[in-house]
Amino acid sequence: MKLAELHAIAQAMVQPGKGILAADESAGTIKKRFDAIGVASTEQSRRDYREMLFRSSAAMQGCISGVILYDETIWQDAADGTPLIKLIEQAGSIPGIKVDEGTQPLPCCPGETITIGLDRLAERLARYYERGARFAKWRAVIDIGDGIPSYAAIHTNAHALARYAALCQAAQIVPIVEPEVLMDGGHDIDRCYEVTEFVLKETFQELYYQKVALEGMILKPNMAVAGKKAAKQAGIAEVAEKTVKLLKACVPAAVPGIAFLSGGQSDQDATAHLDAMNKIGGLPWHLTFSYGRALQAAPQKAWAGQAANVAAGQAAFSHRARMNALASRGQWDAALESKAA
Ligand code: 13P
Repeated sequence: MKLAELHAIAQAMVQPGKGILAADESAGTIKKRFDAIGVASTEQSRRDYREMLFRSSAAMQGCISGVILYDETIWQDAADGTPLIKLIEQAGSIPGIKVDEGTQPLPCCPGETITIGLDRLAERLARYYERGARFAKWRAVIDIGDGIPSYAAIHTNAHALARYAALCQAAQIVPIVEPEVLMDGGHDIDRCYEVTEFVLKETFQELYYQKVALEGMILKPNMAVAGKKAAKQAGIAEVAEKTVKLLKACVPAAVPGIAFLSGGQSDQDATAHLDAMNKIGGLPWHLTFSYGRALQAAPQKAWAGQAANVAAGQAAFSHRARMNALASRGQWDAALESKAA
């Protein structure tokens, strides 16, 4: 492992003023997104949609440090025959790849899952590196509910995350370590805090046991938020303060950066939360975004599968990317949303 190179890539991924586009929806997830805008999910429609994003030069050159791809996309060509991965590289952005293979029920733990994909991961990583991927992503999912999460689910998922991260570094690929505590339930922000704290402590313990170099990885966590079904939602300032406190308690300063998932937050909430944390400042790591839904909901709606709407889709994507880029510096303001919309 050449740690200096991994560190340089990790630093570039979280450089101030830029963040990561998570465009790695699985076939099932992108179908759900396309269903919502009335677009059939075919190999070509998925290609056309992602090509539109990767050719959004203002966003890609100015605001997006890296793009997480799905396996299908990394091997796909644009309409003119240029590999999609080249479009990303030409924009000065770093290509990455989702390498987990989704979740399966965790035996003896009703309602809980384990993320799979470790078998033959070393060979897959070598192929992705050769194709140009310089970072990877693995998402562990922890749900909050009656009697869950169990320690078995937290530990098993943390162990798998560390196994994945060690394999990535051995393949000269920066691992994005993503332990996602879902915001689907009716729990309050303090319950989310408590569960996320346990999950992060366990994850860093496993990373240590498995000799993962923290300087050559990125953490992708959820923020401390109330569940979507909770009667009482936390305000922007509370989310920012509690998330910063949580991360300070759990994430070693050797980690170059933290790139949040949006997890079902509204576009503007995801931006406002990131901005408020960066306004607090004085943190040992760079804080930025690695959003899927919060970057893509607006462009998906504007595009709606029509070639005639490509410019509108790109404008919507560029706007959200710029708002989040400002938030990564703590320079966003809600007034900028309406002005530029
Ligand atoms: P969301 O921002 O839509 O949560 O997606 C980010 C991601 O990559 C989840 O794995």
